[in-house]
Amino acid sequence: MTKGEQLYEGKAKKVFATDDPEKLIVDYKDDATAFNGLKKGTIRGKGVINNRMSNALMRMLESKGVPTHFIEELSERETLVKKVSIVPLEVIIRNISAGSFAKHYGVEEGIVFDAPTIEFSYKNDALGDPLLNEYHALALKLATKEEIETIKKYSFMVNEVLKEFWLSCGVTLVDFKLEFGRLSDGTIVLADEISPDTCRLWDSKTGEKLDKDRFRRDLGGVEDAYQEIMGRLEKHIGG
Ligand code: TMP
Repeated sequence: MTKGEQLYEGKAKKVFATDDPEKLIVDYKDDATAFNGLKKGTIRGKGVINNRMSNALMRMLESKGVPTHFIEELSERETLVKKVSIVPLEVIIRNISAGSFAKHYGVEEGIVFDAPTIEFSYKNDALGDPLLNEYHALALKLATKEEIETIKKYSFMVNEVLKEFWLSCGVTLVDFKLEFGRLSDGTIVLADEISPDTCRLWDSKTGEKLDKDRFRRDLGGVEDAYQEIMGRLEKHIGG
């Protein structure tokens, strides 16, 4: 597969064309941002970890019936994926209160919910990714009713699969963000990445944060946390 021209550079990844119009190469960077790009930094080795972790989790999800954009890991930082047009919705699933949920509703972090919650935000950096509901998404024609139903179904499936997997690694899946895309025939698949950048992962015993909150909140030990969570995954996946 030949790496063609760079099509796009995001905050954490670059996307390249290939000789197949239906396939792209994603290249993971060590760059980290938070608060809509206001805070910038580097997390050494993050690109390698996020690439490998996201691929391992997407393979697992495929085997459990969630279609994804993943095709093949090409190198430490590069992955071949199906070309999608991204649905401009960020889907957030929460099992435990944290982050913006705790802030918006004035509750402490760490409250375990009886059932997971789902929320959407409009993927639009200029507007700061505002929260919206399904009616807003329909009004803005961001997705169809059927697409939203499919996205919700897959998102809760992802939660069940990942919650159980991370528990077997001694890690609590607090919350995470997903993005979906449409293949050229309109099929909805899970896209973007699943990594410590996009999930809150707490050590089940100690509550230690093993994710990007260490960077967002200046907690220190950022690189070590990424290494630790990757090590746990590899031990339990036999990789
Ligand atoms: P929040 O509590 O800040 O809304 O974040 C919820 C989850 O979504 C958390 O696991 C981090 C992830 N997330 C992203 O992946 N990208 C983002 O831009 C934001 C704000 C959160």
